[in-house]
Amino acid sequence: MAKMTVAELSERFQREFHTAPRIFSAPGRVNLIGEHTDYNDGFVLPTAIGFYTRVAISPRGDSKLALRSTEFPENFDFDLASLPPHKLGAWCDYVVGVAHALVGAGCALSGANLLVHGEVPIGSGLSSSAALEVASALALLSLGNGALPLKNVAKLCQSAENEFVGARVGIMDQFVSCFGKEGHALLLDCRSLDFELVSIPEKVKFVICNTMVKHQNSSGEYNRRREECEQGVEILSRFYPGIKALRDVSPIQLAAHAAVLPPVVYKRCQHVVEENARVVETARDFRSGNLARVGDLMGDSHRSLRDLYEVSCRELDIMVESAQGIPGFYGGRMTGGGFGGCTVNLVESGQAESFASQIAERYRTKTGISPDVYVCSPADGAGAALKIE
Ligand code: GLA
Repeated sequence: MAKMTVAELSERFQREFHTAPRIFSAPGRVNLIGEHTDYNDGFVLPTAIGFYTRVAISPRGDSKLALRSTEFPENFDFDLASLPPHKLGAWCDYVVGVAHALVGAGCALSGANLLVHGEVPIGSGLSSSAALEVASALALLSLGNGALPLKNVAKLCQSAENEFVGARVGIMDQFVSCFGKEGHALLLDCRSLDFELVSIPEKVKFVICNTMVKHQNSSGEYNRRREECEQGVEILSRFYPGIKALRDVSPIQLAAHAAVLPPVVYKRCQHVVEENARVVETARDFRSGNLARVGDLMGDSHRSLRDLYEVSCRELDIMVESAQGIPGFYGGRMTGGGFGGCTVNLVESGQAESFASQIAERYRTKTGISPDVYVCSPADGAGAALKIE
């Protein structure tokens, strides 16, 4: 998505609404490891990336929400007293969902003009939706009197997506969009929401490769994976009443009851149990500087997502294979929900640009598709911007 400076967005807003806005930003994210573990109360290791969604806002004298976008031609005007009760299948759903969630949390909303500009590539698995939700929540909250702790903002945005948009996503994307920190990944415990910052050495970059195959969280496969995990918990908790989520299951417990789990459910559980262990080990390896081991764990994660969790696709597998042997490459995997979207590669900083052009060329040759490739470093989340306002 084309970048637009804050000044340009402000000018565009003033042309549309004839008043000066305040502007709130929230970033997309890339998950380094820990895929499909968040809704199993497990661990994830995402970073915010330097693509931001910005929401410009000004108060109105009436009770209308006027929603505009720099990317989409459709304008939406709603009265706060009669917001659409169901999603419309349009970009405004994320903003309306957040408005509903804020009202549900007891925040009084007032009429407002909003203009949205998103830089996060849509449908690429880099959480354009979480970025829009978080930036909208902060913008709408800025007009009221009450402030909400940032953790509550993240939870509220997740509930907007769960309840209004209908995608049963976990907390990872909204959380890292709020709490990301330049130069760091977040080792997040998705049960307690405690997190530790893990420093990412400057000698590496994340090269994100977009297969250009659109993915959609709200499509049935994502929700089906959740149900399969819940089925696993339901069966295993008959043997171990302490098990509330797959987070609580040890590899030994899982292996001991392999025979009572339907084979597909067993595969899903195996992925989640092993992936949680990989996340914790990856954080440790980043700390000790063992980047070769981080690369290996990323490769293991990809194979597990492909073979056990079955959320990869041909293009993602080709992109992962295409990285092998390019100088400076430590490891790579699909990132995000899957079924399309991006891969993330850990690459030596000095080699990142040449890695980017070589992988793009290889992928283009094998698939006929020209990929977008982004060389990224961990960026600040929305919370950082709030502090400097
Ligand atoms: C999507 C969801 C996240 C997470 C990932 C898979 O990005 O929004 O909550 O479940 O998929 O790890």
